[in-house]
Amino acid sequence: MCGIVGYLGVKESLPIILNGLKRLEYRGYDSAGVAVFNGSNIASCKSKGKISKLEKSLNKRKNLNGNIGIGHTRWATHGAPNNINAHPQFSNSNKICLVHNGIIENYSTIKQKLLKEGFSFKSETDTEVLVNLIEYVKIKENVKLGEAVQMALNQAIGAYAIAAIDSDKPDEIVVAKLGSPLCIGIGNNEYYIGSDVTPFIEFTKDVVYLKDGELAIIRSHKETIFRKISDDSLVSPTINKLEISLDKIEKQGFDHYMLKEIFEQPKAIKDTLRGRLNLSKGLIKLSGMDDFINKFLTTNKITIIACGTSWHSALIAEYMFEKIAKISVEVEYASEFRYRDPIINKNDIIIAISQSGETADTLAAIKLAKSKGAYIYGVCNVVGSSIARESNSGSYTHAGPEIGVASTKAFTTQMIILYLMAVKLSRAKGIISEKIFHKYLIEISSIDKKVLKTLALNNSIKKIAKKFKSSKNCLYLGRGYNFPIALEGALKLKEISYIHAEGYPAAEMKHGPIALIDKDMPTIVIATNKINYDKIVSNIQEIKSRKGKIIAIVSEGDIEVKKIADFVIEVPDSIESITPFITVIPLQLLSYHIAVMLDRDVDQPRNLAKSVTVE
Ligand code: G6P
Repeated sequence: MCGIVGYLGVKESLPIILNGLKRLEYRGYDSAGVAVFNGSNIASCKSKGKISKLEKSLNKRKNLNGNIGIGHTRWATHGAPNNINAHPQFSNSNKICLVHNGIIENYSTIKQKLLKEGFSFKSETDTEVLVNLIEYVKIKENVKLGEAVQMALNQAIGAYAIAAIDSDKPDEIVVAKLGSPLCIGIGNNEYYIGSDVTPFIEFTKDVVYLKDGELAIIRSHKETIFRKISDDSLVSPTINKLEISLDKIEKQGFDHYMLKEIFEQPKAIKDTLRGRLNLSKGLIKLSGMDDFINKFLTTNKITIIACGTSWHSALIAEYMFEKIAKISVEVEYASEFRYRDPIINKNDIIIAISQSGETADTLAAIKLAKSKGAYIYGVCNVVGSSIARESNSGSYTHAGPEIGVASTKAFTTQMIILYLMAVKLSRAKGIISEKIFHKYLIEISSIDKKVLKTLALNNSIKKIAKKFKSSKNCLYLGRGYNFPIALEGALKLKEISYIHAEGYPAAEMKHGPIALIDKDMPTIVIATNKINYDKIVSNIQEIKSRKGKIIAIVSEGDIEVKKIADFVIEVPDSIESITPFITVIPLQLLSYHIAVMLDRDVDQPRNLAKSVTVE
């Protein structure tokens, strides 16, 4: 995701654009830039990092005054996050300037053509290719910016929301959309552009949501022209009246980022799988692994290093790698790994999992492993983050920015990558047949629907939360793949509600935690297992006979646990290895509702930070 902003009107554009970019920072924050027509040319300023860094660079600049400008906040997909790849991107003549959210899939073919025509490129971005294609068309066909944009887009394949300005036409912004969002706020002789309405909500309530395949030529003191990109037919826009507050919009109607991110999981899962799963060809494509598959097949040892919630996904990976791919895996807390003088050999692989890609302990651990010759595979969410850069190769989770401190969608998408890695390795080693491989692919391809179905249980989970919000302690039990989910459920509750919670493998209960059980100590049991189901039923009986209350998560069609548990959350059935994707959802929702009922600061719990960059 990226965010785009624009302004054309009577005010100074720069403060409006900067403010808008800050509102859109949730869409990406690895680099940002602005461009303003200052009366003689288009001046720009770009900076790697957050908008605050761009703001600092702007303090030193003086030539960015003017009433028309565009801005961009980037979440890198192609090309590292740096000043050169940041937007706006300029055409070779420096006359046309473009911000873009999306991907031009055929950019390399277009680039080759433009190179032959004498164009040159400074960045690695598809956006620079598009802006030069616009310039090429403009000169060749002798047309104005609007026509040039339209003709260029008719040659482009992919998804985009764009805003372009041209110093030959300094009273115009041309915007267009296909796939990515773009809206236009209409004021009094002024126009605002945004990836959503947050950049301009305080200035106007009148908004046009551009539709896919539409282009608009926004002109000062003249009516905006709306037309289709594919032909010249005009379209009449619908002007909507905004009735929602800024706070609600940023959270897309949810009360907290955490809840928004919990509900985003089906989409995040699909985004992580996009381009990596080819059911018809029976393929898993992980570019970070494909070229180095032999390393994985011949390694002595795989060690997975992480902290916090990412450490829990590492524990699940241990089950996946060992059960599915028959590869022995060790899981380590990054902070412990480095200080116990670990034995690392040249043939070792270290998988580092980190949402932020900045966790200091994880970063230091991989630096240590790298210095001893290990191969580092990064599984990160933030593109271009320190851990991603330090890794030899890896896979991004593509969950989109996660803002709530308690990690949710980053966790499920980490598990997706780890599952794909395990299944791919299993097939490459010849452990599973083509048929079983296909079964694994089918199962993961429909997981977003099962997660969606589980999210529909939100209201009944809220009712259960009400019963337990006053508990002082909670126990979480699970077995096999769902033991790490018990740990994750307990962590989520601790983090945001400040209720003491412990996760245990169900069978370990009798070695200690059972002493804590009484009528005031609820136990959340994940009982979706097929293997050891009877044993879990016995564990539940043991708790019940000590007057403990049971909240059980069971698979649809369950009979035995339903008879004895006090509260039952029935989730879609699946093969064992993908139950964690489903069972974690009720636990996220349960903690969320308890925390809200206790009036906690859900998105920024006390003493915690989203990214821990100190050791
Ligand atoms: C912090 C966050 C956790 C996160 C952990 C690891 O403690 O509050 O939510 O799981 O760091 O972060 P990482 O970015 O490395 O996954």
